[in-house]
Amino acid sequence: MSALVDLRGLEKVYTTRTGDVHALSDVDLQIEEGEFLAIVGPSGCGKTTLLKILAGLEEHSRGSAAIGGHPIAAGNGDVGMVFQKATLLPWRDILSNVLLPLSLRRRPTAADRQKALDLLRMTGLDEFSGKRPHELSGGMQQRAAICRALVHDPSLLLMDEPFGALDAMTRDILNVEVNRIWRETGTTAVLITHSISEAVFLAERVIVMSPRPGRIVDEIEIPFGKERRLDLLGEPDFAALTSRIRSHFEVSHA
Ligand SMILES: Nc1ncnc2c1ncn2[C@@H]1O[C@H](COP(=O)(O)OP(=O)(O)OP(=O)(O)O)[C@@H](O)[C@H]1O
Ligand SMILES: [Mg+2]
Repeated sequence: MSALVDLRGLEKVYTTRTGDVHALSDVDLQIEEGEFLAIVGPSGCGKTTLLKILAGLEEHSRGSAAIGGHPIAAGNGDVGMVFQKATLLPWRDILSNVLLPLSLRRRPTAADRQKALDLLRMTGLDEFSGKRPHELSGGMQQRAAICRALVHDPSLLLMDEPFGALDAMTRDILNVEVNRIWRETGTTAVLITHSISEAVFLAERVIVMSPRPGRIVDEIEIPFGKERRLDLLGEPDFAALTSRIRSHFEVSHA
């Protein structure tokens, strides 16, 4: 069976007023259907660029990029994206924020509303469907953003540092929730994170990228099965994997 996502020899060069910026170099990456992949790498190495290419929001310069055997095209609509900030529309209530990706295409049906309400229940927000974003905490807004990204059953869920702005405890709780949502929906997930332990906790495979131009320098299989629980964070195997990944970012003082 071929991979859901297939990137080959991918390059990205941004042309700017002050010269070219080589953001990605020779990225070869296959992501299997249903897989949970995390990407870590130093700031500015091209992670968001990679996610935008997957979402069809940015064109690549060379190489090939396909999802489900088809070249990625702008607005092919089969991805859901969660950004660092929840980016909910302040004047809409939570339910209509979650329904937004569908309402941009058509009038939401009763089944769509049910699907949105199911997602809100899955993330513990069912009592808040009629509230405005400012009436929710940051973690709750981020959960609503995840519901919004999933409402149209995307084949690929893309998350760019979704919990970077949250405190460590809320982040742990949401990580457990993301793991459950991923298992229950069977979606394919790609997570960018600056937290190595978040990457190891959630992913089945972690990709490490080099400084710009970003290329893949290591790939680590995470053999902890699909269900992840917080006590994993204290396991020696967990620490061994995080320190292997961290070794890529240690500054040499030689
Ligand atoms: N629209 C753009 N035009 C020109 N250059 C860009 C554009 N977007 C990103 N870049 C450049 O491409 C490089 C990679 O940026 P990108 O946002 O992908 O990095 P990142 O790995 O997501 O960083 P961070 O971890 O800080 O979010 C950077 O040098 C950035 O300045
Ligand atoms: Mg980024």
